[in-house]
Amino acid sequence: MPHYPTLREQFITRLGEGESDIRVFAAPGRVNLIGEHTDYNGGAVFPAALTFGTTLLIRPRADRQLHLASTNFPQSRLVPADGLVFSEDDDWTNYPKGVVWELAQRGISLSRGYDILYHGEIPNGAGLSSSASIEVVTAFALLTLEGRKTDTVEIALWSQHAENEFVGVKCGIMDQFAVANGRKDHAILLDCDTLKYELVPFESGDYKLVIGNTNKRRGLVDSAYNERRAQCEAAVGDLRAAFPELTLLGQLTLAQFNDNAHLIADEIVRKRARHVVEEIDRVGRSVEVLRQGDLAAFGQLMNASHDSLRDLYEVTGAELDAMVAAAREVPGVLGSRMTGAGFGGCTISLVHKDSTERFIAEVGDKYKAETGLTADFYVCDIGDGVHEIKEAN
Ligand code: GLA
Repeated sequence: MPHYPTLREQFITRLGEGESDIRVFAAPGRVNLIGEHTDYNGGAVFPAALTFGTTLLIRPRADRQLHLASTNFPQSRLVPADGLVFSEDDDWTNYPKGVVWELAQRGISLSRGYDILYHGEIPNGAGLSSSASIEVVTAFALLTLEGRKTDTVEIALWSQHAENEFVGVKCGIMDQFAVANGRKDHAILLDCDTLKYELVPFESGDYKLVIGNTNKRRGLVDSAYNERRAQCEAAVGDLRAAFPELTLLGQLTLAQFNDNAHLIADEIVRKRARHVVEEIDRVGRSVEVLRQGDLAAFGQLMNASHDSLRDLYEVTGAELDAMVAAAREVPGVLGSRMTGAGFGGCTISLVHKDSTERFIAEVGDKYKAETGLTADFYVCDIGDGVHEIKEAN
């Protein structure tokens, strides 16, 4: 947990003394339990918010400037609150700038400027949604200080739009949605087509969720991600021969897909589409078995998800595969899979509470021997979505 008095001191050091009070907000990172590469296909996802993420300290200014600083990066930026444009040089500040730009697109121009300090606890580039966390906490804090309504579904959509159009990353809705709407000890069953969602209690009994960070930079991720999106669109195009109204793969049942998969001309495109439709089906089955308290069955579905991402969707890579293989060898592990976009980033495993130490030691050793990389592990709890930290004010 961040130490708020220290953050306040850092705020004053970086941004100076001021007249108004400093208020404190927080947004988590997220981990996806199952339902990977389904969001932009209008399918289901099942993510959960973490108990760590981004803390934001904010204070109004007398002028119309935004002073953006971070405890994680030396560079800060003083930018106007109006007419913002993306700039490579502005680095991480493009995320908050994108949110301010997005609010303006929605007819919400800020009434004044703000001093803002960010403090991030999510390892960068690990696929735990540090950027969504920055976007969502910025939108929530600014809307609160402007006296506007803070609808967390709207905030998720606006943050995703800012990332798509301002930053230029064509992500789906999952990350921003989970960060905005998470709830302690619950996973979010989200239909990414309708945005209908349900908070499902995640009761894992004697088992813990353990995140393993491969520490492999996700270099290829943007181009491969866009290629997968295009392949899914190509599959929809071919399947329209049978379903003229089809716009997203997530609109098909598994049976409808199986009966018509032959319409997809390209074999690779067919494999990609099969992953998506089967993965959406796995999300539904996961929620069912979890409701019955059958964690072992959920673990099997996690394994099947990873294997499909490896063999059909081809987004895992040597590091994620090595970590997952090592994880499955540890007694007390019910399931293990990659989480997020893939090509590096993190795995998530369901591990008996008495085995977590052994898990971290053995998986860490085997992973290092195989890849030469040192992994990091987090035994995680599920936390709340974006909120104001009133006790820190
Ligand atoms: C990234 C994207 C999400 C989602 C996942 C894959 O995290 O930001 O929108 O597509 O990859 O499930």
